[in-house]
Amino acid sequence: MIGVFDSGVGGLTVVKEIFKYFPQEKVFYFGDTLHLPYGTKSEKTIKNYSEKIVSWFQKENINLIIIACNTASSWAEEYLKNKFKDIYIFGMIEPTVKEVARIYKDKKIKKIGVIGTSGTIKSRVYEKKLLEINKNFKIYSKSCPLFVSLIEEGLIKDKITKEVALKYLKPLKEKNIDALILGCTHYPLIKDLIYEILGENILIINPAEALIRELKLFFENNKQIKNKKEKNHKFFFSDVPYNFEKIKNFCFNKKININFEIKNPFNEKII
Ligand code: DGL
Repeated sequence: MIGVFDSGVGGLTVVKEIFKYFPQEKVFYFGDTLHLPYGTKSEKTIKNYSEKIVSWFQKENINLIIIACNTASSWAEEYLKNKFKDIYIFGMIEPTVKEVARIYKDKKIKKIGVIGTSGTIKSRVYEKKLLEINKNFKIYSKSCPLFVSLIEEGLIKDKITKEVALKYLKPLKEKNIDALILGCTHYPLIKDLIYEILGENILIINPAEALIRELKLFFENNKQIKNKKEKNHKFFFSDVPYNFEKIKNFCFNKKININFEIKNPFNEKII
């Protein structure tokens, strides 16, 4: 069983890849809708929420955990890996940066755009890690906070989203970037629009796909890991996930039925 957590429903874009590449694995998903959004919260708060979620997963005997949320990965991926040394934790940052390291020479990538929530961009974590691979990279980061709401409203093909995207992506287009990292759970859902604006030659890097590559390697090298075995997927949210159906339908075949429970592992009183 693979534990996956996110601030809400966006992590389904990561679950989609897990279902596709590891159909034999069951997913234990938690979306922290009670504290949504993560993208506008401080490092301290995100570390605190993430740590509580991982502690709960640990109590549930889940020892392989994916931080699907890019904001939580930006602020807390290293922190959680250091804190929970006896669990396997994968965030979005390390696999993505490794993917860039793997391909940049062949693909002649020099200028890289990074888009994400305000928190992800403020953390500058993608930028720092990419420059560790090659200090000559030119990194252009841009927070695109409205994308999450527009996508959750189902406005993926709407002209409003196109206008917003034109505005957000303009500075990246002007810099003639070679590659773009989609540093937020939701952005793969508007990949076509991004291609339309930046051109088909741009190399789009989806952290969820980079994660799959890392997971494949991990399973190859750790055949013996004692992982919790379950018959069914389990989905939990800390409060009502209003846009669950919409995002689910964008990610999966409409017929797929996913039941979820409301569960608050934070021991917080909700007034
Ligand atoms: N899941 C978040 C991320 O990938 C986006 C939504 C939020 O701000 O909570 O950064």
